[in-house]
Amino acid sequence: MRKVIIAGNWKMFKTQAEAQEFLKGFVTQLEETPEDREIVLCVPFTDLDIMSKSLHGSRVRLGAQNVHWEESGAYTGEISAPMLTEIGVRFVVVGHSERRQYFGETDETVNLRLKAAQSHGLTPILCVGETKEQRDAGQTESHIFSQLEKDLVGVDQDNLVIAYEPIWAIGTGDTCESKEANRVIRLIRSQLTNPDVTIQYGGSVKPENIDEIMAQTEIDGALVGGASLQPDSFAKIVNYK
Ligand code: 13P
Repeated sequence: MRKVIIAGNWKMFKTQAEAQEFLKGFVTQLEETPEDREIVLCVPFTDLDIMSKSLHGSRVRLGAQNVHWEESGAYTGEISAPMLTEIGVRFVVVGHSERRQYFGETDETVNLRLKAAQSHGLTPILCVGETKEQRDAGQTESHIFSQLEKDLVGVDQDNLVIAYEPIWAIGTGDTCESKEANRVIRLIRSQLTNPDVTIQYGGSVKPENIDEIMAQTEIDGALVGGASLQPDSFAKIVNYK
């Protein structure tokens, strides 16, 4: 059975005080949320500890936005899987296009991070997706298939979430047509050995388009950036019809 997972990716937003303010407005809006939906917040490293304490006993799961492949070592600025699991982190975003674009993340390092996350019991959310140029050149499929082929070497597909995030749709307000997202996600699934992997769509998801996105047969959830920063808009998204 494919699980529905709605995850917020806060990126580099919110101090601890702002994170707690968010929770005050958000958790009270989850009383009617169907039980079979998993809700995840992927927050900056500095918010993890306080969020873990504040979320104790709630149904919201905690996620980080990256993880290093070694358990410890001389890797200034990095965070390891045991550091995350110690504070109750369950999910981690790996290979987000912003990491690939701005921080030199490659398919090889993405693969190492995925395996390290899994070996410590974290569930990685692997992000894949094409640029506008690749889409216009008809390379959407070949690019994503290449990412999957390299990223998933030796990765356990029983403990994996994939997010299809077309780069041109991220933070632009320009959502991918839901039927087109559904088509690409079906193609992604055709490359997997486990048909039950949860595959999310990400890119300008908002309260206004979540119902249509979640009505698609292949889409099992959403990875939400900007619209996860406000309690009311993220609550509307997790409470989609
Ligand atoms: P937006 O929802 O702000 O477009 O961001 C999507 C994203 O990158 C989530 O990881």
